[in-house]
Amino acid sequence: MGCVWAREARALRFVLRRAARALRSPRAVPVTTAVFVLVLCGFLLHLPDFHHDNSNLADDHRGVKLLVWTHPFGQNRKLPDCWARYRIEGCTLTDDPLEYPHADAVLVHHREIATGAAQLPPEPRPRAQKWIWMNYESPTHTLALWRLEGEFNLTLTYRRDADIFLPYGYLEPGLSRSPDAHLLRAGSRARLDRPQLVAWVISNWSDSQARVAFFYELQRYVRIDVYGRVGVPLAAGRGSVVRLLSRYQFYLALENSQHTDYITEKLWNAVLAGAVPVVLGASRRNYERFLPPKAFIHVNDFPSVRGLARYLLMLHRNPSKLWHHLDWREGYSIVQPSFWAHHYCTACREVRKRIGTKQVVQSLEQFWSDPGLSHSHSRDVPRFTPIKHF
Ligand SMILES: *[C@@H]1O[C@H](CO)[C@@H](O)[C@H](O)[C@H]1NC(C)=O
Ligand SMILES: *[C@@H]1O[C@H](CO)[C@@H](O)[C@H](O)[C@H]1NC(C)=O
Repeated sequence: MGCVWAREARALRFVLRRAARALRSPRAVPVTTAVFVLVLCGFLLHLPDFHHDNSNLADDHRGVKLLVWTHPFGQNRKLPDCWARYRIEGCTLTDDPLEYPHADAVLVHHREIATGAAQLPPEPRPRAQKWIWMNYESPTHTLALWRLEGEFNLTLTYRRDADIFLPYGYLEPGLSRSPDAHLLRAGSRARLDRPQLVAWVISNWSDSQARVAFFYELQRYVRIDVYGRVGVPLAAGRGSVVRLLSRYQFYLALENSQHTDYITEKLWNAVLAGAVPVVLGASRRNYERFLPPKAFIHVNDFPSVRGLARYLLMLHRNPSKLWHHLDWREGYSIVQPSFWAHHYCTACREVRKRIGTKQVVQSLEQFWSDPGLSHSHSRDVPRFTPIKHF
C-alpha cells in the first residue's frame, strides 16, 4: 500500500514540476485559459441538476408527503417507492402517524373509520393538509357516511366523477408502460374451442342478491362451474383466477350490487383471460364507457334468462360468432391497478398537482348516493374511449 502511495506522490510531483515550468514559458497564458475553460465546462455540465431543483422549488412543484392513515382492511403491506414502480416523482409515502404534522395529505380508507377500527386523524389539522377519502366498496356496502360530512378535501374511488378517479381496471390503447398492465392479444380462432363453457367465482353468497337469483335461473339451461367459498376452492392469487378462466368461453362477472361505474376485477379478470364476460351490474351504457360494446354480454340484452342461455349455447356451437366478441382485443393493454400501491402513488401525484389549492367535499353522502344509475338510461353518457393516462 505504502509503496503505491509513494509512486503516486512521485508522479504528482512530476506533473506539478512540468506545470510550473509550463507556466513560466511564453505559452503559459493560453494554457491556463484553456485549463480554466475546461474546468468551467465540467462544472456547468453538472449544473443542470442543481438548476432543475431550484426551478422546481420556484414553481412550487416540490415533493409531497402522503400519510397512509390505515392499511385497508387491516392488512399491513410495504409501501411502494412511487418513482421506482410508477415513475411518479416527488412522492414520499409513510404510514407512521407521528408524521401527521408534516404530511401534505392524509389518505383515509373508509372501511376502518366506518367500523370504528380507527378514528379520523386529530384536529386541528395542519393548515394546508388535505384529507383524502378512499373507498372501493359500492354504496350498498358503504356504512356510516353521515359521520364524515365536511371532513374531506378529495375523493379517491372507482367513480368517474371522483376527484381522483382510479377504476378497478381500464383499457389503454397500445402497449401500456404501467407495471400493472398486460397487452391483450386477439388470440386465434383455433383457440376459441375452449374445453369449458361457463364459470362463476363467488366468495360472498347471499340469496338476497340479484346475482344469486340470476345464477339459479341460468343454471337451469346451461352448465355453470362454481368456484370460491361455496364451490370448488380457488388457489390463492389473482393469477390463478385468470389461469382458471382461460379454460372457459364465458365468465359470469356479476357484481354484488348495481351502481354507477361499479365494475370490479371480476370483469377485468375475464377480459384478461379471454373469456367473454356476461355482466350483471350497472347499465349497458355504463359498461360501454369502459369497454367496446361487443366486448361483453349484458344480462339485460335479452328479455329473459332463457334467451341469454340460448345465445351462449349458440355461440358455443358457432366459433365465428363467438369470435365477434373477442376480435376487438388486438392493440389494447389492460391495466388493473394493483391494490394499494397504485392508489397511494396516484393519490400522491394528484396532491402534488394541487399544492396550494383549497377544496372541501361538502357532502360525501350526496356524492355517494349515486344519482347516476337512475339517469344513466336517459342521459347521454359518453361512449367508450380508451383511457390514455390519468
Ligand atoms: C355479503 O353479502 C351480504 C348480503 O348482500 C352483505 O350484507 C355483506 O356486507 C357482504 N359481505 C361482503 C364482505 O361483501
Ligand atoms: C380541507 O377540509 C377542511 C374541512 O372541511 C377545511 O377546513 C380545510 O380548509 C380544507 N383544506 C384544504 C387545503 O382544502
